[in-house]
Amino acid sequence: MSDNSQDRLQEYLDFAIQLAKDAGALIKAAVDSRMAGSGSNIELKKENPTDLVTETDKAVEEFIKERLYKTYPEHKFIGEETFASGAKTEFTNDPTWIVDPIDGTTNFIHGYPFVAVSIGLTLNKIPTIGVVFNPLLNELYSAARGQGAYLNQTQRLPLFHPPQPLTDLSHCLIATEAGSDRSKQVIDAKIAAIHDMLRKRSKESPYAAEAHSIRTTGSAALNLCNVAKGIIDVYWEVGCWEWDVAAAIVIVQESGGIVIEGDNDKLNNEPVNIFCRKYLAIRAASDNKSQLEIASQMKNLIPNISAPRPPVPGGYSY
Ligand code: IPD
Repeated sequence: MSDNSQDRLQEYLDFAIQLAKDAGALIKAAVDSRMAGSGSNIELKKENPTDLVTETDKAVEEFIKERLYKTYPEHKFIGEETFASGAKTEFTNDPTWIVDPIDGTTNFIHGYPFVAVSIGLTLNKIPTIGVVFNPLLNELYSAARGQGAYLNQTQRLPLFHPPQPLTDLSHCLIATEAGSDRSKQVIDAKIAAIHDMLRKRSKESPYAAEAHSIRTTGSAALNLCNVAKGIIDVYWEVGCWEWDVAAAIVIVQESGGIVIEGDNDKLNNEPVNIFCRKYLAIRAASDNKSQLEIASQMKNLIPNISAPRPPVPGGYSY
């Protein structure tokens, strides 16, 4: 049986769903015990004080990694905390699980309930299985390539049938994030882009969108799941990582949405390289042409922001 035979996909999907539920229970227990005054999540800081990590992030990643290696010893693993510890990032054609134990760590610390465990699987480098579980709101998003995307395993995504028409960026609800790079250059560029998304079109700002509004959940994975639901029209972020998006990209694609590179280069319809750190997602619509029109309007607003991959002891191969 090949790795991407339908039986295998179902097996991987069922496995990832159970794993996300079990990992989610650990996250929920940590939040509950902190709220009840009995928890002791020590807040650790990475070098960057806006890129937080807790003991729970590390414990949940270890839990997931152990279960994965026990079940699929021959598979590869890329995880946020494993990367942070300096391990080599190796991306090959082998089945590779890409995991964020807690996407929305800042929310987790504050008790803001947009927190998710994100478990993705690539086969031949193609994102193929995606499971994102928010244990605080009990929302589980899942998808396997070619089999559709679901909320809580029963409700097909998007939520709107048929999807609402996508007419113009001025009618869109756009999700974006501050991200963890708070250098003046990056924050100025992001704020300028948000300014252009919101303000009226004029001679001075010919590409301004006057969009319906801006939303930010604090979780890249959940922003993408909101695109899959169809309740967010557009999500753009520069600076997040493959573990934030690998699972949710499958969920968006299987809901009929697209995810392309979120830079200001020429528009192309190629699925995004998950390692590019710049993502632009457009929700499902009745035709690809209207999705690309919205993407092209967004590209007129997107500034040049660099999001390099910092040197790590283990290095990269992808
Ligand atoms: C972060 C969240 C946030 C995004 C950051 C990510 P984390 O992930 O997805 O929304 O803006 O770029 O790093 O650190 O909570 O796993």
